[in-house]
Amino acid sequence: MKMNTSLMVNKAIKDKLNRPVRDLRISLTDRCNFRCTYCMPAEIYGERYEFLPHEKLLTFEEISRVTQLLVNMGVQKVRLTGGEPLVRRDIDVLIKLITGIKGISDLAMTTNGYLLPKMAHTLKDAGLHRLTVSLDTLDDSIFRKMNGRDFGVKSVLDGINEAVRAGFAPIKINSVVQKGVNDHTITELAQYFLTKGHIVRFIEYMDVGTLNNWDMKHVVPADEIISKINETIPIELIEPLYPGEVARRYRPTNGNGEIGIIASVTQPFCGACTRLRLSPEGKLYTCLFGTKGTDLRTPLRNGASDSEIIAIISNTWKTRDDRYSETRNTNSVKSNLKKVEMYHIGG
Ligand code: GTP
Ligand code: 5AD
Ligand code: SF4
Ligand code: SF4
Repeated sequence: MKMNTSLMVNKAIKDKLNRPVRDLRISLTDRCNFRCTYCMPAEIYGERYEFLPHEKLLTFEEISRVTQLLVNMGVQKVRLTGGEPLVRRDIDVLIKLITGIKGISDLAMTTNGYLLPKMAHTLKDAGLHRLTVSLDTLDDSIFRKMNGRDFGVKSVLDGINEAVRAGFAPIKINSVVQKGVNDHTITELAQYFLTKGHIVRFIEYMDVGTLNNWDMKHVVPADEIISKINETIPIELIEPLYPGEVARRYRPTNGNGEIGIIASVTQPFCGACTRLRLSPEGKLYTCLFGTKGTDLRTPLRNGASDSEIIAIISNTWKTRDDRYSETRNTNSVKSNLKKVEMYHIGG
């Protein structure tokens, strides 16, 4: 897509806390083939649940237009999420459109891995740079319960293996740790993927959305996760790869490999948060815990010019003062506004 250089003046736009916009996270669908208990509980998201109809989803052309405009405003990294991004049809077409945009240094995807045996090669051929696969435990019976669909661990491991064959390496494995659910299985998960040469990141369980009855007592603090792993696999902290990296990185002291910890609850990282999120139906969210998005679909479909779309995006970013995770503990008044759900905005 050609870009009029006069539209590039907004580069280096900053929010109210002086943070630039650098990362765009695009949720492609609110549908998912899993029903993780902490995200889309099966009793709520049953047969009759009405997900967004196809015509309400941004088209690939609309998504790539918004992405192009955001690249001109400073975005360099893009991540495709969902729901489950691989349930959206012809996703390779979108990957090709996005990798064709000059200025994007990194295009990654977060998936639950179930469709990777079928899709991994297509994703690689389309130009996707990196894959992150969510897998909370290697314990088959716990995993079957956690994903709400009775899918075995093997289905995800097969997907990871196929992704390796397609040329994705290393792969990041995201594991949400819940006290009393899977926290006794973290060392096994870390060990298994260290041996395979992949990077496991343990994520503190967060109060995203409204459905998971979150409570601080369900969280295993990052320090505890580290101590637990350290008992079996001695690890040491290493430098971040880039400023504002979400995960803290650790390395086994007597070997290679990497383990990450995402301490979004006990050690929040809002100060360096440069992430903007685009929902499947075209709303911009400036925080994972946002309550209200800014509609882009209407102007996109009403013939708005690039400058008009840029004006909407920059006003949204300029007025951003989100730092939810840093104020979680001090927020005495609980807001009545409904937070956006994880499956809708994609982590
Ligand atoms: P890399 O580009 O590979 O470094 O990815 P990343 O560190 O951005 O990781 P990823 O997108 O896989 O995020 C991992 C998890 O961290 C997400 O699923 C969320 O649970 C959490 N996370 C990511 N970004 C944010 C954020 O902005 N705020 C909060 N509170 N949590 C986040
Ligand atoms: N807290 C932390 N991480 C979560 N994820 C989903 N819900 C939560 C939560 N409440 C993770 C998923 C996936 C990514 C999109 O976000 O496991 O890895
Ligand atoms: Fe689970 Fe991710 Fe699907 Fe939510 S979107 S149900 S976390 S696989
Ligand atoms: Fe960014 Fe909001 Fe997460 Fe803080 S809580 S890091 S502002 S997305």
